[in-house]
Amino acid sequence: MTTKLAPTIKLNNGKLIPVIGLGTWKSKPGEVTQAVKAAIDAGYRHIDGAHVYQNEKEVGEGIKAKIDEGVIKREDIFITSKLWNTYHKTELVVGALKQTLADLGLEYLDLYLIHWPMAFKENGGLFPTENGKVQFSDADYLDTWKGMEQCLEMGLTKSIGVSNFNSEQLDRLLAAAKIKPVTNQIEVHPYLNQSKLISYCKERNILVTAYSPFASPDRPWAKPTDPSLLEDPVIKAIADKHKKTNAHVILRYLIQRGTVPIPKSVTPSRIQTNFDIFDFELTSEEIKTIDGLDCNGRICPFDEAKESKDWPFNIEF
Ligand SMILES: NC(=O)c1ccc[n+]([C@@H]2O[C@H](COP(=O)([O-])OP(=O)(O)OC[C@H]3O[C@@H](n4cnc5c(N)ncnc54)[C@H](OP(=O)(O)O)[C@@H]3O)[C@@H](O)[C@H]2O)c1
Repeated sequence: MTTKLAPTIKLNNGKLIPVIGLGTWKSKPGEVTQAVKAAIDAGYRHIDGAHVYQNEKEVGEGIKAKIDEGVIKREDIFITSKLWNTYHKTELVVGALKQTLADLGLEYLDLYLIHWPMAFKENGGLFPTENGKVQFSDADYLDTWKGMEQCLEMGLTKSIGVSNFNSEQLDRLLAAAKIKPVTNQIEVHPYLNQSKLISYCKERNILVTAYSPFASPDRPWAKPTDPSLLEDPVIKAIADKHKKTNAHVILRYLIQRGTVPIPKSVTPSRIQTNFDIFDFELTSEEIKTIDGLDCNGRICPFDEAKESKDWPFNIEF
């Protein structure tokens, strides 16, 4: 049986990215190898990871197992990782990527992102704090970008991009960059539909990757009274019409708006079903209805880093 794969989108450098990827934040080291293997078996050819998730070794083991089994070749799969905030000084970037490659057991990445625009103090662990407050570094993300460009020139990654950048930060980056970012990975889901930042990025041919597509129900700070997107009645009514689930409708909504969702799961049945979205389409009316659910419902504000001059959520988009 041949596995059905997801369609791809062309990035602004000509490389192709599959329109859905597997997220790996909060996926425990003991669970994520199985999750990656299940995803590859289900047809995923795109995995989203990061150094700060502290599970890249186990993500790499899943990829290696499927290469060794002959299910995929390295070039068949799109692997993303992210530079953590403590490695923002130009001279630290290449080393940070080399560490990620060593952890993953790979020779190159498909995409490396600056995880957040804020820089944290170097050499104090992943979350350097003093008296409970995050310690920042004076590194400027424009200098970080120079390190990202070096990574690309050295062949350590095929593409480079950013994450959690607002429109002003992107303007500033685009004015200075030799190499344009291919994507801005941001939080997007029906409760935070990001229509302005998505339009901004589209106009500049920067793909939006949509993180926390289900509004991250397993986020550590979730409260039982928070609204649940996966049970939202408006989405449920649309899902029933298509004989699909809320998860399917949300992923279709994101794909039909031109973004690339990266749903996380460590449950094989969910990993499989989240891929089952290429046999139906939402109408423009249904997309408009879902757009109406926006309530500025950001679930990843990273408030601990609010004091940084580069915290991205001080402006409208
Ligand atoms: N760049 C950034 O700053 C940033 C920030 C946040 C996230 N991300 C990336 O985006 C990925 C996705 O975001 P996320 O992890 O925050 O959350 P998410 O994908 O919105 O939601 C994940 C949660 O939904 C559950 N789930 C998945 N499929 C389901 C289904 N079909 N039915 C019911 N529940 C389902 C998962 O459960 P189980 O795992 O238990 O199955 C998990 O609890 C991350 O893993 C990460 O790779 C990036």
